[in-house]
Amino acid sequence: MVLVSYRAALLTLLACGASAQWESGSYGYSPPVYPSPNMTGLGGWQSALAKADAFLSQLTLDEKAQMVTGTPGPCEGNIAPIPRLGFNGLCLQDGPLGARQADFVSVFPAGVTAAASWDRDLIYQRGAETAEELKAKGAHVLLGPVSEPLGRSPYGGRNWEGFSPDPYLNGVAMAYSIMGIQSVGIQACAKHFIGYEQETQRNPTISSDGQTIEAVSSNIDDRTIHEIYSWPFADAVRAGVSSVMCSYNRLNQSYACQNSYTLNGMLKTEFGFQGYVLSDWGATYAGVSAIEAGLDMDMPGSIGFLSPTPSYFGQNITIAVQNGSLAEERVDDMVRRVMTPYFYLNQDQGYPTVDPSSVHMNVLFPQSEWVYQFDLNGTSNRDVRDNHATLIRELGASAIVLLKNTNGALPLKNPKYIGVFGNDAGDLTNSLYLFRTDFSGNYAYGTLPMGGGSGTGRLTYIVPPLDAIKARAKIDGSLVQYILNNTMASTDLSSLYPPAQELDVCLVFLKTWATENYDRSSLDVDWDGNTLVEAIAASCNNTVVVTHSAGVNVLPFASHPNVTAIFAAHYPGQESGNSIVDVLYGDVNPSGRLPYTIALNESDYNTPILNLTNAGLNDWQLNFTESLLVDYRYFDYANKSVLYEFGYGLSYTNFSLGDMTIEDVAGGSLSALPPAQAVVPGGNPALFETVLNVTTQVQNTGSVSGATVPQLYVGMPSTVPPRTPPKQLRGFDKLTLSPGEAETVTFGLTRRDISYWDVEAQQWRIPEGTFTLNLGFTSRDIRHTMTVCPLC
Ligand SMILES: *[C@@H]1O[C@H](CO)[C@@H](O)[C@H](O)[C@H]1NC(C)=O
Ligand SMILES: *[C@@H]1O[C@H](CO)[C@@H](O)[C@H](O)[C@H]1NC(C)=O
Ligand SMILES: *[C@@H]1O[C@H](CO)[C@@H](O)[C@H](O)[C@H]1NC(C)=O
Ligand SMILES: *[C@@H]1O[C@H](CO)[C@@H](O)[C@H](O)[C@H]1NC(C)=O
Ligand SMILES: *[C@@H]1O[C@H](CO)[C@@H](O)[C@H](O)[C@H]1NC(C)=O
Ligand SMILES: *[C@@H]1O[C@H](CO)[C@@H](O)[C@H](O)[C@H]1NC(C)=O
Ligand SMILES: *[C@@H]1O[C@H](CO)[C@@H](O)[C@H](O)[C@H]1NC(C)=O
Ligand SMILES: *[C@@H]1O[C@H](CO)[C@@H](O)[C@H](O)[C@H]1NC(C)=O
Ligand SMILES: *[C@@H]1O[C@H](CO)[C@@H](O)[C@H](O)[C@H]1NC(C)=O
Ligand SMILES: *[C@@H]1O[C@H](CO)[C@@H](O)[C@H](O)[C@H]1NC(C)=O
Ligand SMILES: *[C@@H]1O[C@H](CO)[C@@H](O)[C@H](O)[C@H]1NC(C)=O
Ligand SMILES: *[C@@H]1O[C@H](CO)[C@@H](O)[C@H](O)[C@H]1NC(C)=O
Repeated sequence: MVLVSYRAALLTLLACGASAQWESGSYGYSPPVYPSPNMTGLGGWQSALAKADAFLSQLTLDEKAQMVTGTPGPCEGNIAPIPRLGFNGLCLQDGPLGARQADFVSVFPAGVTAAASWDRDLIYQRGAETAEELKAKGAHVLLGPVSEPLGRSPYGGRNWEGFSPDPYLNGVAMAYSIMGIQSVGIQACAKHFIGYEQETQRNPTISSDGQTIEAVSSNIDDRTIHEIYSWPFADAVRAGVSSVMCSYNRLNQSYACQNSYTLNGMLKTEFGFQGYVLSDWGATYAGVSAIEAGLDMDMPGSIGFLSPTPSYFGQNITIAVQNGSLAEERVDDMVRRVMTPYFYLNQDQGYPTVDPSSVHMNVLFPQSEWVYQFDLNGTSNRDVRDNHATLIRELGASAIVLLKNTNGALPLKNPKYIGVFGNDAGDLTNSLYLFRTDFSGNYAYGTLPMGGGSGTGRLTYIVPPLDAIKARAKIDGSLVQYILNNTMASTDLSSLYPPAQELDVCLVFLKTWATENYDRSSLDVDWDGNTLVEAIAASCNNTVVVTHSAGVNVLPFASHPNVTAIFAAHYPGQESGNSIVDVLYGDVNPSGRLPYTIALNESDYNTPILNLTNAGLNDWQLNFTESLLVDYRYFDYANKSVLYEFGYGLSYTNFSLGDMTIEDVAGGSLSALPPAQAVVPGGNPALFETVLNVTTQVQNTGSVSGATVPQLYVGMPSTVPPRTPPKQLRGFDKLTLSPGEAETVTFGLTRRDISYWDVEAQQWRIPEGTFTLNLGFTSRDIRHTMTVCPLC
């Protein structure tokens, strides 16, 4: 008795047609998991649930449908107000690095930049301050943070919005972002769930003869989806996230927003998620069947720029309940899930109204299309930036990764003659807003503080590197010469005086664009930047390279003897120039660490984008055949040399690691499988109990203050199933130490940290045998190794 809409029926037919071919393959279909679990208020949400219940009891069926369906309005996503109940509606806004659809707001460092800081406190603070701005602009839901794409492929067009291809670092960054965001009373939205690792064919397309070519299907085995892709989402749920956005792609043939295995199964049962699942914009492809599979809210609802059609939700829900094809109890659960976080975060207690100025920046919904009246009576053009530039500058600097520093090039010591080169050094020339509905924005001139698409921000100003260098040079009395035209700087330096050979330092600024909707087709820097570096380094024996980039760049010039230093500064947000100058001059000691691996060569990566030509209707099959071997897990497993490994980053000082000790916290009473316990948000609570403490001492042995990141990697015993990565990050901390200072650091390893996902038992299992615990300063700079047998 399941109602399927026309399109869902079509999908079912397609899926059946493909079945024979798939059963023989190594990937299957997502197993069905029904019915959709009711929320119960677990994890401290009980009294908010009671308020949601009281609210629900006053709704008509039409209003219930309206509560779970987007409607045209002032925000990126809107749930209609119900004035009778004093409910002003819900406003959902982008995004992860600041309020995009707003004026007088800040642009914060991007996700990859935040991850490169490896700093829990700064990541939390970034969450809190972005959230303060969105809240002050009237948003109830901040559409972030981003876990996926986590960066399975270094080419992923949105990797920069998220954190890291390492699930542990990614999960920590998700949890701290969410706690920061929700600490100011706005709902976070963990996205994009799940297996969303490429832009290419993320949505269905129409073939030349009018047939639907389905979106890419991420075919992921059970162990991999647990140990890599869903790990950070479990952390997000554990951190109390209010909502989860399902993604555009399919998983094992079934669209992510109607996949009962991942939504009902993993998210709502295994992780005990109590909030609501909302669709990515236009990612809903069915009504009742999506609802029964666990989707709770359709966005943007009745009109969408990706699918200009009426909603599968809305009125269809009312009709489906009335004709008996959808249980009203399920709709009630959807409404409870939507309203419980609202009450939990006290959003019913005098929340700011939507800033009317947002309306003018809304490309989705012109006011003429609104059906409901939203409260726009608040002050317009509110300046919500506060003192957030301080954190932006600090996090930007703290996240800069120093990859090379030879000949004592850095920090700069009163250079008399400075050369600045490259089209990333100067001011923006085409606009302060990189969002275009055609996803363009990769302009030749101007520094790149962020990428494009829905995860971008609206700058009120930018500090270009050149401006910050000039300001600093003025204090020092240095002479700054510059050529920002890459072609000119690569071919003709004759205008310089003194000439390039006599400059004290040549700073080359390079950039790499990435945007939603497109994957990168190269890992080189853009705009012929490699040629530019070669040209400058041919004349200047102290060439310092800075990249502003979406993520991985191969760096063919890294071994050039005249390239004395290299910085990966990623996308630092509006204080870009100040952040880099702080580090160049040593006011801030660099302490960023790579949240991914830089290979020697582009062809060394094992995970390209799937890019087909003349594809058939169901041909976009992205088989995650590398399974767990993503990023450093692969390079370690294959024993391949890399240019700069995961976790790498230099400092202006040196650190040592004292001896390592292991303490058995569990007291020798450990079982291989977690004791059965009622699930709390995040999963079985036993998974998160600390079982081992690993302690060491970190000392600053150099002559300047600085921060470092000790890292703990776990190597599993040989009893684990094949293709287990040799070591996996399971602990890190960021410590700031003055010269000579030492600090003791303890990493608590939880049961989950030392388990693998046992596909037979459908449980996290601690393997028999001896583990190797590796403590070091990068994934390959291991200083101490100890063995331990938790089950012996
Ligand atoms: C993906 O895996 C399926 C099943 O094993 C196989 O039939 C198909 O050819 C693979 N597709 C690609 C692009 O490798
Ligand atoms: C995809 O299929 C594989 C192989 O049958 C299975 O192990 C895995 O659980 C499925 N994953 C999802 C998300 O359905
Ligand atoms: C959810 O609760 C309703 C009552 O509100 C009940 O009818 C339904 O069976 C429950 N569903 C599940 C999956 O437990
Ligand atoms: C129900 O959903 C279908 C598919 O989006 C749409 O064409 C139809 O107009 C909807 N009906 C109502 C009453 O909203
Ligand atoms: C019930 O309503 C839905 C939603 O509009 C419709 O698609 C479906 O055909 C109806 N089913 C029956 C059995 O009338
Ligand atoms: C906004 O203010 C106008 C005029 O004061 C009032 O009529 C209207 O009801 C207010 N709108 C809301 C949604 O509060
Ligand atoms: C950049 O330099 C090249 C080579 O000198 C020149 O042809 C081109 O016009 C310059 N571009 C701009 C925008 O000045
Ligand atoms: C670099 O060039 C400068 C100026 O020509 C010279 O003084 C210096 O010794 C050179 N440094 C190295 C390491 O070759
Ligand atoms: C995919 O192929 C198209 C057409 O050949 C090309 O334009 C595009 O850049 C490719 N995408 C990637 C990510 O390589
Ligand atoms: C390094 O720079 C010097 C000028 O200081 C130049 O003579 C030399 O050729 C450069 N080396 C390389 C490998 O380009
Ligand atoms: C990178 O690998 C490709 C293909 O294997 C090879 O042609 C190229 O020379 C390599 N480049 C470098 C810099 O090693
Ligand atoms: C493990 O480390 C934590 C955090 O430092 C500490 O509170 C706890 O007492 C330690 N447990 C044991 C058994 O040493």
